Order: sequence, then C-alpha cells, then structure tokens
Amino acid sequence: MKNLGKRAFLTRAVHAGERVPLGKHTPVATPIHPSVSYFYESMKNLDAAFEGKQEGYVYLRYGSPTVAAFEAAVAELERGEACQAFSSGMAAIHAALLAAGVRAGTTVVTTLDLYGATTILLQRLFTEMGVTVQVVDVTDPGALEAILADKRPIVLLIETISNPLMKVVDIPSLATLAHQYGTKVLVDNTFASPCLFNPLVHHTDYVIHSITKYIAGHGDVMGGVVISSAENRKRLNELNRLLGGALGPFEAWLALRGCKTLPLRVREQCANAARIAEWLTEHPKIKRVNYPGLPNHPQHELARRLFERRGFGGMLSFEIAGADRAAIFRFMDSLELCLPAPTMGDIYTLVLHPATASHRSLSAEERARAGIREGLVRISAGIEDSDDIIADLEQALAGLA
Ligand SMILES: Cc1ncc(COP(=O)(O)O)c(C=O)c1O
Repeated sequence: MKNLGKRAFLTRAVHAGERVPLGKHTPVATPIHPSVSYFYESMKNLDAAFEGKQEGYVYLRYGSPTVAAFEAAVAELERGEACQAFSSGMAAIHAALLAAGVRAGTTVVTTLDLYGATTILLQRLFTEMGVTVQVVDVTDPGALEAILADKRPIVLLIETISNPLMKVVDIPSLATLAHQYGTKVLVDNTFASPCLFNPLVHHTDYVIHSITKYIAGHGDVMGGVVISSAENRKRLNELNRLLGGALGPFEAWLALRGCKTLPLRVREQCANAARIAEWLTEHPKIKRVNYPGLPNHPQHELARRLFERRGFGGMLSFEIAGADRAAIFRFMDSLELCLPAPTMGDIYTLVLHPATASHRSLSAEERARAGIREGLVRISAGIEDSDDIIADLEQALAGLA
C-alpha cells in the first residue's frame, strides 16, 4: 500500500504488514499461503498473469503457492510431468474422466471391484448423462480385449490394488493392450501409494490418488490428485477452475508434510499387514484372507514383479467363517485398539465392513457380483506394534461363538 503512514488508523489496521516482498531469502519449510488473490505492482502485470503470459498466481481456485509446492512433490513421487490437486479423491476421479474425454456417447470400461463411490459415479451419474459403462474382470485379459475391440472405449479405469478384494492388476500389460485400441488408461493408485508402484512409468495416461489416505496419512486431510503430462494438467486445471474442487492451502501444507514420512509409514504398514495376513491365515475362524503378499493370492507373482521388493501394501481383507452382519458388528464393537472407521491409509489401524461402508451404496446384487460378502472385513494396517494389533484381533475373534 502506497503512503500507508498517512492513512487513518482503520486503514492502517487493515493493510499494515501485508504484501511484504520476501527478497532473496527462502524459508526451509514451505509456508502456508492462504491468500485468495494476488496483488501485482501494475494492472499490466496482473493482466499478463491472468493470461498465463507471466508466471504468478491470480486466484486461489486457479492455483496457489502452497498447493503448487504439494503438486510438485506428488508429481516427483509419481514420476509424472505434472499434477493437479483437488478437494477430494472423488473430485479428482471426476475431473480425470472428463479430461480424458468422457462425454455422452462414449464408453468407459472398468471393473466392479472398485471403490464404491467410483462405481456409483460411473454407473449412475455418468450413465444418466449418456455414457456407456462396461464392467469386466480386468484380471482376465481375454475378456478385456473383447470389450476393447467391440466397444472402443475412450477410457479404461482401474485400481492398482482393488478395493476391497486386493486383486492386483497387470497395469503394464493392460496399458499396452488398451493403447492398441486407442483407449486411455486411468489408474487409481491410492491403495498402492507411490511407494509401491508408479503407473506412469508403465505408460498409463492419468494416475489418481485420494490423498485423504496414504499420502496425507494422518486422518486429518481430505484431498485428491491427478498426475499426468503437462498438457493434460493444463486441461485438468481448466476444468477445475469451473468445477471448483480446489484443494485448500492448509490441506496442501499438511499433505506436503505427509509426503516426507510417506515411505517410512508405508514400510511399517506393509510389514504390519504382512504379519496380520499370515496370522489370520492360520486362525480357525477365518475362511479366507485377501493379501497380495500371501503365496496363495491369485496375483502373488504379479505383485512380486510389479512392486519388486517394496512390499505388498498395507491393506488386506478377510472373511470370518459363517459370520452374518450381526456377528461382524459384534466383532468390530469388541475391538479395543483397531478403530472401526470408514477410511484407510492412516497411521492408526482401521477396520471397515465393506458391505455397510465403502460399498454400502451398491445394491446387494452388485456386491454379490463383485464378490463382496457380508462376512468380509477390511483392515488398513497402521504403524502401531504388530503384536498389539494381532492381540486385539485375537480377543475380538475369541468373543465370537
Ligand atoms: C481407492 C479409493 N479411491 C478414491 C477414493 C475417494 O477419495 P475421497 O474420499 O478422498 O474422495 C477412495 C475413498 O475411500 C478410495 O478408497
């Protein structure tokens, strides 16, 4: 503000201390910039920034320094050219589908064993708008190729590790196959995290994360990201200026902080999940354990190849023999350490009943078709001591008749 000292107290109270240039020093940790808009010394410069002819920020929904720092970090972790942040994982999935060209008259091919809200977004909202959605078991390349050849879908949407059955998808092969038919490949990499696998290295087109999960990691941030080429990022940004699902600077700051401990947390979570899965396999009340690290998992060898030595993920699911909904609720209620909470990827160990939580909005028939049974429980391993987690599961299972 010019000539601030000459102004009235009311005016000085509003403007004092603001818009001080940073000079040449650089804060070691990225600051939070909550400003909604940005000031330029001249209208000419503001105009150039609006046009994208001059570097700089204009309005928070378009982009801001803290969010940009977080986007740069995620692009680096996913080995992508650029990243666009969103206010939730669902906002990111929605924008990625639009950016990839999904419109009335186009076809999307996907799998039923997906996060429930993604299924509903496609099967209800996009279908109502004239998009055709084809569902196929993507672990069967023959079935997928038949659909690709017949329907020429614009997009193939998959999850690296599926939710909640932990199927592992052969992304390198599927990307090659899909591209032969001109189909773009969108990968929700939330369950694997960038620590286990980078789909863009295997020539996929868009990678999505709900950063609400592993990336932020502490159960206190909601957000999403799409990582892709610089050109696609431009399109995603244009879309999000209109859709309005911008990530807030405070959330971006927390999530950027989360990136720093991501590999340490995921390493512990993978080790804990592997121990829990092995222990459950031996338990007489457990009918089946879904964990890619178990040698009897249908895609165990594929998971070894894709994830190399980085681990098999912090997520697993299991079925309690003969358990109906009442028995599952009793089991969940008697847990003392593990938290029954509808999220994942946190430092806390979390349990969830897919039929009444993540896949609640699917009909009973849709769940049955996806193989999601009443007795299925999902665990997101936290970073506590694995002996304590197992002791808690043991006492809760012992309480079941
Ligand atoms: C695999 C996966 N993708 C996307 C989402 C949606 O993310 P958000 O809740 O941040 O919108 C979730 C949420 O649980 C998820 O599990």
